[in-house]
Amino acid sequence: MDLAKRMSRLGTETAFEVLARARGLEREGREIIHLEIGEPDFDTPRNVTNAGVLALSAGETHYTPSAGIDALREAISADQSTRKGIRAGVENVVVTPGGKPIMFFVMLALLEEGDEVIYPDPGFPIYESMVAFLGGVKRPIGFIEEARSIRWDVDSLLSQIGPRTKLLILNTPSNPVGCTVSSHDLARIAAAAVEHDVFVLSDEIYSRILYSGDFVSIATLEGMADRTCVLDGFSKTFAMTGWRLGFGVMPEWLAPHIARLITNSNSCTAAFTQIAGVEALTGPQDSVDDMVSEFRRRRDLVVAALNEMPCVRASTPDGAFYAFPNIQGTGMASREAADYFLYEAGVALLSGTAFGANGEGYLRLSYANSYENLERALQKMDTALKAREVSLPRG
Ligand SMILES: Cc1ncc(COP(=O)(O)O)c(C=O)c1O
Repeated sequence: MDLAKRMSRLGTETAFEVLARARGLEREGREIIHLEIGEPDFDTPRNVTNAGVLALSAGETHYTPSAGIDALREAISADQSTRKGIRAGVENVVVTPGGKPIMFFVMLALLEEGDEVIYPDPGFPIYESMVAFLGGVKRPIGFIEEARSIRWDVDSLLSQIGPRTKLLILNTPSNPVGCTVSSHDLARIAAAAVEHDVFVLSDEIYSRILYSGDFVSIATLEGMADRTCVLDGFSKTFAMTGWRLGFGVMPEWLAPHIARLITNSNSCTAAFTQIAGVEALTGPQDSVDDMVSEFRRRRDLVVAALNEMPCVRASTPDGAFYAFPNIQGTGMASREAADYFLYEAGVALLSGTAFGANGEGYLRLSYANSYENLERALQKMDTALKAREVSLPRG
C-alpha cells in the first residue's frame, strides 16, 4: 500500500534520533552527558502537580469543550494581558495539547498550496516541515553574527515579503539561536505585515525564559491584534512537557476554526491537565523565577567555557536555554562535529543543520542539565578538541 505523497514532505525533529544513538552508546557501557534535549530538567512545581492529582481524584476525567475550559481560558487571557499587554478575552484563547498543535492548526487553517511562508532558519524544525507538508513555498530567513551577538536578518526578511506571502513565523526568544527580536525590528516587521496583509504566527513559548529586558509581543503593535496568533504554553515555563498543555491567542475570526480542527483531531486537551494549568498561572510563581535564575547561571558558564575552547565562538543568548556556538574554525561540518563530540567526548548535542540549512557551522547545546554535568561536559569537549588539534597535520 502506498503512502500519500504528502508524507514524503513531512519532516521530523532529529533530537529524538540523537537521543536514540546516545542511549545505544549508554547500553554499551559508555557514559553520555545529554545536552541534546529541549526540555527543562526541573520538576513540575509541586502545587501544579497536586492540582492535577486532586482534579483526577475529584472525577475530572471527561471531555471538555474543544477550545478549553473557561477557567483556564480566563486565566490565560488575564496572564497574557498582565505580562505582555495583549488585549485578549476568553474568545481569543484556544487551548491545545502542547503548543505544537497551534503551529499545525494555524497553518492548516490558513495556507493554500503555493502560499509563501517566511520562517526562521535555523529554527524549530516543525515550521519548515509543516510548510512543506501543506504545499506552501518555503522562504527561510537567516541570521547575522557580529561581535559575539546574533540577530535575525530583518532586512532580508522585509525584502522577501511580497504579494504571495501569506504567513510569517517569528520565534522570540529563539530555539535554537537564543536571540530575541528587538522592539525596533518588531515594529518594522509589523508595519510590513500590515502593508502586505500578512498573518503572523508568533511563537512565544520561551517568553518567560528571558535574561534581560521586558518581553515585547508583536501582537501588541499597531494593526497586529487582528492578524497575529501568539503561540505559548506550559511546557517550558512550568517544566510541564509531559502534561501536554499549550495555547494560541488569536483573532476572534480564527479561534472557532482552530477549535473545529481540534474537534476533528484531539477533541480536547485532558481535563486534569487544564486544571493544573489554572494553578500554574494563578498560584505562586517562585519556581519559575528560580528556574530562570538557574538557567542564567548555566548560560554564563556555558558561554564562557565555549569561548575558551580552541576555534569555537559563542554569542550570549538573550533567552531560552540553548547555546549556539560557531564551530567553523574547527574545520568540521556541523554533523561531523556533533558526531565527534558524541563518540570522542561522550557529549550528546545537536548539529545546527537539525534546524535548517543555515545552521551549518554551528551546534546547539541545551543547558537543561545540572551545573555539575555541564561543567564536566564542557571539560570533555575542550579535551576532545585539543586532542584533535594535536593530531591534525600542521601546514
Ligand atoms: C520554539 C518552540 N516552539 C514550540 C515548541 C513546542 O512545545 P510543546 O511541548 O508545548 O508542544 C517547542 C518545543 O521544543 C519549541 O522549541
